[in-house]
Amino acid sequence: MTDDAHTAPRGVGVVVVAAGSGARLGAQVPKAAVRLAGRTLLARAVERVLAVDGLSCLVLVVPAALAGPEHWDLGELPAHAAFVAGGAERTESVAAGLAAVGEDCDVVLVHDAARCLAPTEVFDRVVAAVRAGADGVVPGLPVVDTVKTVDADGFVTGTPERTTLRAVQTPQGFRREVLIAAHAGGKVATDDAALVERTGRRVLVVDGDPMAFKVTTRDDLERAERLVAGA
Ligand code: CTP
Ligand code: MG
Repeated sequence: MTDDAHTAPRGVGVVVVAAGSGARLGAQVPKAAVRLAGRTLLARAVERVLAVDGLSCLVLVVPAALAGPEHWDLGELPAHAAFVAGGAERTESVAAGLAAVGEDCDVVLVHDAARCLAPTEVFDRVVAAVRAGADGVVPGLPVVDTVKTVDADGFVTGTPERTTLRAVQTPQGFRREVLIAAHAGGKVATDDAALVERTGRRVLVVDGDPMAFKVTTRDDLERAERLVAGA
């Protein structure tokens, strides 16, 4: 008799997407290669990922021209770390990374390198919620502004009740087969949870963290610099 509890895979795979150009930041190099107090955004993100409980597969999705450790100051990486070339859209980059995640991982997390200060605790919280039974888990924060929906001419079409809104972040976590099925459709979305939602699966929001904000603009980079400096 086989005992599934002992034979089922129990590893955590993390796909860090870092293949974007960073058009809104407007630096000379791809955004993940921009240095924040001397270290690249990717290196800062990876440092926090390496401490994730049960990490057994790390996939770094980077621009094709930079697909090797010599281009990044990552320090020592575990043997399971792999570099993969990204695609033109974030969704394509995630799909390329997901294809490189080993079958020993029952849970896969997708993380933006641009959220380079997201604490390890957020990753562990997301993994725990997936293991507790959710198909998909995203970290989120309450929205402070009132949000309006608008039409093409800018006229307001609605005001969603603010208490029902969450601003979601990464890492987003899924059972491996759920994420593979969601990406199999070949559709594009701004986050992975949206693809999973479209397959009819339920996605749970757990507490996010203000430090998991995304470096998008020059202002965000300056904020990250102040935080790293402890100012
Ligand atoms: N990303 C990726 N592949 C792409 C586009 C984005 O791997 N084709 C990654 C980025 O490197 C980033 C994350 O997805 O870590 C979130 O994307 P975003 O903040 O939009 O980064 P960029 O696309 O690089 O920035 P911009 O939209 O300003 O060009
Ligand atoms: Mg982008």
